Amino acid sequence: VLGTGIVGRTIAVALADLQHEVVIGTRDVAATLGRSSPPMGDWLAEQPRLRLVAYEHTAGCDLFVNATNGAGSLAALGAVGPGLSGRIVLDIANPLDFGRGFPPTLLVKDDDSLGEQLQRAFPAAKVVKTLNTVTAAVMVAPHLLPGPSTIFLSGDDADAKAVVRGILGSFGWIDILDLGGIDTARGTEMYLPLWIRTMQALGTPVFNVAVLR
Ligand SMILES: NC(=O)c1ccc[n+]([C@@H]2O[C@H](COP(=O)([O-])OP(=O)(O)OC[C@H]3O[C@@H](n4cnc5c(N)ncnc54)[C@H](OP(=O)(O)O)[C@@H]3O)[C@@H](O)[C@H]2O)c1
Repeated sequence: VLGTGIVGRTIAVALADLQHEVVIGTRDVAATLGRSSPPMGDWLAEQPRLRLVAYEHTAGCDLFVNATNGAGSLAALGAVGPGLSGRIVLDIANPLDFGRGFPPTLLVKDDDSLGEQLQRAFPAAKVVKTLNTVTAAVMVAPHLLPGPSTIFLSGDDADAKAVVRGILGSFGWIDILDLGGIDTARGTEMYLPLWIRTMQALGTPVFNVAVLR
C-alpha cells in the first residue's frame, strides 16, 4: 500500500484483516515515523501486522495500492521501479490541486486522467482505478451507508479488474460497475468537484451514489 494518509492506513488495515500480508510504502521512513500529523509512529506501534518501508523496498509485492497524493503518484510509482512490472496497481488517487485553496481543482481532466497517466508511464503494470469516489471509511465498509451503493471500476486488463473486483467484494461491495478501459477514469476523477460540493452540503463525507437502473 503506497501511502501513509488516511486512505493508505485504512486500506492497509482492511487488507491485513483479510489475512493479506501488507507493507506500507512511504518516501522516507524516518521522516514519516517522526511525523506528528498523523502520528505515524504511534499508529504503527499499534499495528504489529504492518511494516513501513521506502517505496523502493516494496518490490516483490503481488499487488500495489496507490493511495498517494495525486500530485506525487507518478513519482511514487516511479520509485517502486521494475517491481511494478506485471503487477496490478489498484489506483485510488485523485489529481486534486489545492494550490488555489479549497475547493481544489483538477491537475488533469477532460481528455486525460491520472489513471491514464500512470498506465502510460508504467505500461508493464495493470492499472485499475476504483474507490476514488468514496471517503476512506466507506472504501472498506460500504455497509456504513443505509443502503447498497455503487463503486466504479476502470482498467484495460480484464484479469486485473477481476482480481480487484474480488478485493472490492471482500470489503463488502456488491454493486461494482465496470465502466470500461482506463480512459473511463476521467469520469470518476472529474466526479470529485461534485463529490466535494455534496460533502459540503451534507456536512459529512460518509455518503455515496447508487446508480439505479
Ligand atoms: N481522503 C479520502 O477519503 C480520499 C477519498 C478518495 C480518494 N482519495 C485519494 O487518495 C489519495 C490519498 O489520500 P489521503 O487523504 O490518504 O492522503 P494524501 O495526503 O492525499 O496523500 C498522502 C500520501 O501521499 C504521499 N506522497 C507521495 N508523493 C507526494 C508528494 N509529492 N506530495 C505529497 N504527498 C505525496 C505521501 O507520502 P509520505 O508517506 O512520504 O508522506 C503520503 O503517503 C489521494 O490521491 C486522494 O486524492 C482520498
